[in-house]
Amino acid sequence: MNSKILVTGANGQLGNELRKLCKNFPGLEFIFTDVDMLDITNPDAVSVFMEASKPAIVVNCAAYTNVDGAEDDVKNARKINALAPQVLAAACAMQEAFLIHISTDYVFDGNSTVPYLEDDSTNPISVYGSSKLEGEEKIKSVFDDYVIIRTSWLYSEYGHNFMRKMIAIGNDNSEVQVVNDQFGSPTYARDLANCIIDMIIKSILNPQAYLPGLYHYTNQGSCSWAEFATEIFALAEIDCKVIPVSSDKFPTKAKRPMYSVLNTTKLRDSFGIGIPNWRDSLKECLSSKR
Ligand SMILES: NC(=O)c1ccc[n+]([C@@H]2O[C@H](COP(=O)([O-])OP(=O)(O)OC[C@H]3O[C@@H](n4cnc5c(N)ncnc54)[C@H](OP(=O)(O)O)[C@@H]3O)[C@@H](O)[C@H]2O)c1
Repeated sequence: MNSKILVTGANGQLGNELRKLCKNFPGLEFIFTDVDMLDITNPDAVSVFMEASKPAIVVNCAAYTNVDGAEDDVKNARKINALAPQVLAAACAMQEAFLIHISTDYVFDGNSTVPYLEDDSTNPISVYGSSKLEGEEKIKSVFDDYVIIRTSWLYSEYGHNFMRKMIAIGNDNSEVQVVNDQFGSPTYARDLANCIIDMIIKSILNPQAYLPGLYHYTNQGSCSWAEFATEIFALAEIDCKVIPVSSDKFPTKAKRPMYSVLNTTKLRDSFGIGIPNWRDSLKECLSSKR
């Protein structure tokens, strides 16, 4: 197997982290694309690009990630999150390439009280969650050479995310109301990017340890959005008070699961990958920002 890796949606949070990390792996050849170079919803463009570049692995970081926007834009959310993964899987099957695809904790309804396992029943409560679940199912229907990684509450120095939003609000306000009844695991996109490269080296490029399938990856530990905001302000030394409020106070277009903590044991055991705690990773992210 060659070691050429095609990354789609590479201008997003996760794609940017892969761009930064790839410099540490000169043995792996990366091709980074985003919608302007390769629109993954266009089957012809995907198959022409794949045929010309012949990657061994495709890492799909592209997605429609506007959770509230998706409620009114169902067609586009489905096109990017459900149909495009099928297009990529079909092109990978044709080219005998492996597909790494990213999914979400929002495939669950949030009624659990213990961390979700990979084979727990899904029941998305938003268009975004349904479209991402459909993407998983489409890939599974095409072939077996995939890893799907569900992650949650992704943040980084780039793009739209809760950490950046809180820093902007905190710099301009002395207090902010944040919901304290939704629980999940904040995940630093750089840690996920590291995990993806680790999986590629340890398993996908190593036929002896080939372990395709569905996995959960988030930083370890969990918290509410209010606790997350409190930690962001503490570590960034921003003087802004967090006022904890219930979700009823912040009606949003899309419903969010009240509890979407994912159990990561399968991934840790299968690949021997250690996962940092969310507080340590947040500290790391904030210090690399300065
Ligand atoms: N963000 C989270 O909190 C979160 C939580 C759980 C799971 N995830 C999943 O993690 C993955 C990475 O998320 P992220 O936060 O890094 O996403 P992101 O920052 O929103 O980046 C997604 C990228 O995909 C691009 N894109 C959109 N449509 C495309 C198309 N048709 N063809 C090619 N590229 C296209 C976007 O371009 P434009 O910006 O121009 O549209 C953007 O650069 C996604 O699968 C997401 O569903 C994210």
